[in-house]
Amino acid sequence: MLILGIESSCDETAAAVVEDGRKVRSSVVASQIELHAEFGGVVPEIASRAHVERIHEVLDGALREAGVAWADIDAVAVGHRPGLIGSLLVGVSAGKALSWSLGVPLIGVDHVHAHLHAGSLDRDEPDFPAIGLVVSGGHTSIYKCGSAVQLERIGATIDDAMGEAFDKAATVLGLAYPGGPNLDRLASEDGADDRAHDFPISRLGKESLDFSFSGLKTSLLYRVHGNPIPGGGFEPGRPEPTADERRDLAASFQRAAVRAVTLKLGRAIDRLASEGWHPKTLLTGGGVTANSRLRRELEGFAGERGLEIRLPEMRFCVDNAAMIAGLGFELIRAGRTDNLSLVASPTAAC
Ligand code: KG4
Ligand code: ZN
Repeated sequence: MLILGIESSCDETAAAVVEDGRKVRSSVVASQIELHAEFGGVVPEIASRAHVERIHEVLDGALREAGVAWADIDAVAVGHRPGLIGSLLVGVSAGKALSWSLGVPLIGVDHVHAHLHAGSLDRDEPDFPAIGLVVSGGHTSIYKCGSAVQLERIGATIDDAMGEAFDKAATVLGLAYPGGPNLDRLASEDGADDRAHDFPISRLGKESLDFSFSGLKTSLLYRVHGNPIPGGGFEPGRPEPTADERRDLAASFQRAAVRAVTLKLGRAIDRLASEGWHPKTLLTGGGVTANSRLRRELEGFAGERGLEIRLPEMRFCVDNAAMIAGLGFELIRAGRTDNLSLVASPTAAC
């Protein structure tokens, strides 16, 4: 079965053709980074307009790269939530138009759930049950996964998402947008000391499976600028960090952020084990799974816990449509298709 996937939830316009949920025949992603760079973040109106301008070209590119014709497409899967509403509407409208004109089923796919499918692309089917981790610019969540489509969120961030914290930390360190990858590069430079600063790792009590990154981010801010003073601003007289100091700050920040993830994953697995539920696989996805330290530590963590890990290939960590088509296939297999009344929604399912 050939599924056309469409993704437009944020600032990437993407389309892909995926065979039987896993074999990626094509994956085209048009990034808008250059349009948003001068604003230091995604501007929703600019994003939705750029999706409209690019979606035809991206769809044509996906079919061309896959070497298939429109008549070969068996179903259309579209990311319909969560995301920027104006951006989502472009993909959902395109998906509906194609489903109607080709006479094939339409499947609405949750973007965050689809990130968990990214590590199964161009690979065999993972074993379930599984524990899932999504760490992206908008989401940081842990899932209990009975199957690819039976997902229960058991932990989530109560403030910043992990990628958002990386992006803000990068701004504090004077790095260019998009900050996450640049902070990763700085932290990975030779000589970087990840123990130079003992940044806080949020635990939120002994039991919580939730995340908090705002304290870590604020701690970095104060370390760079000094403590805040009444009436606004920071203690005067703090010198700008040197290049070496910035490198150490980045490495220490990254160590604390990554440790928060393995800590909560460990807790989640222990909690589930106490309920007699034992995952075989660790599914991971989202832009931050491109982070070099997180990848290394998740591999180590999975090894210690006897889990098979599914880390997405680098090109499938960030937003893409292959993961949408992939999960779309699983939803069809489970008998869950939609129709032309599918709605775009800015909020996430649980
Ligand atoms: O999944 P994604 O493309 O978009 C959302 O669904 O949010 O994730 C983008 C996020 C950004 O915050 C970006 O800075 C972060 O992923 N990111 C990274 C790295 N590569 C991307 N964060 C840390 N280290 C990286 N290497
Ligand atoms: Zn995403």
